[in-house]
Amino acid sequence: MRGFYFNKGDSFSSELGLSKDGLRLLAKQGNLEIMQQHIVKGAVVWLVPGESQDDLDFFYVHSGRIDIITDELNESFAPGDSFYVRDLKDETFLKVREDSDLVYVSTAPVFDDQAAFQKDLLNMVAQINRKDDYTYVHSRNVMHYSVKLFTALKQLCPAQRLEDMVVSALFHDIGKCRVPDEILKKKEALTGPEYEQMKMHTVFGAELLTKYYPEGVTGLVLRHHERLDGSGYPFHLSGDEIPFGARILAVADSFDAMTTDRGYNKPMDALQAAQELAGEADKYDRRVTEKLLEMVRSGELKLEGK
Ligand SMILES: [Fe+2]
Ligand SMILES: [Fe+2]
Repeated sequence: MRGFYFNKGDSFSSELGLSKDGLRLLAKQGNLEIMQQHIVKGAVVWLVPGESQDDLDFFYVHSGRIDIITDELNESFAPGDSFYVRDLKDETFLKVREDSDLVYVSTAPVFDDQAAFQKDLLNMVAQINRKDDYTYVHSRNVMHYSVKLFTALKQLCPAQRLEDMVVSALFHDIGKCRVPDEILKKKEALTGPEYEQMKMHTVFGAELLTKYYPEGVTGLVLRHHERLDGSGYPFHLSGDEIPFGARILAVADSFDAMTTDRGYNKPMDALQAAQELAGEADKYDRRVTEKLLEMVRSGELKLEGK
């Protein structure tokens, strides 16, 4: 019928027919888009300030549960609840408690960008997963710890964007895709040349990500093994040459490595690891390690699942 469009089951109105990785475009008129978004439990989702203060993003929770936790807000959204953002000041992180379906209405066109972004992200996560299980679980854990630490310390570095922190943490070791398996999975200590190759994962990672992400992301990936006293790699940067985001990554990365059973060293518990990192003020930013210790002690930060 002329002027009537519909979507049923998995089939879409011929006008649209668009479905990309969890995001479906249900209707569109001019800049207005109505979408359905499926988000799996634990996924990383955040709201970013719109380009114009007139843009509005509306979300209706159809199923599942979403929490929004910021300095000023602590709200949980269940089926039937909705929220919208307009003239948002800061990036806001959503915690997806259960697999969720949202109806998402945006007054600015977001579908193509969002869909492309999600697809790249998922492809890269799958790439790490195929390469080795450890790196995949490790990446997710480092992301969770980094976000927790960053959220608690954000006032120390207002210029650091949450979005860049999340993406760089999730992909900090993606360069390992280019390190040969016999080195990556070697149980014994690496030889000198092997270790040199392993160190290259920082450079490979930044190279791989350049196509998709800004310097704010690649710069952190490149520098996540630098240490304050200049003993890190690949550039032996020291002190102020290491951005705050990379310092957070360094702590989150080491914390996960120390508390995970990787077959050679007995894993530490969270408190032991946090104390040890706090004792290494020459290498790790004291503000970050002390926040970690405080959050472990208060139970605010717990070990992620392996
Ligand atoms: Fe690394
Ligand atoms: Fe790592």
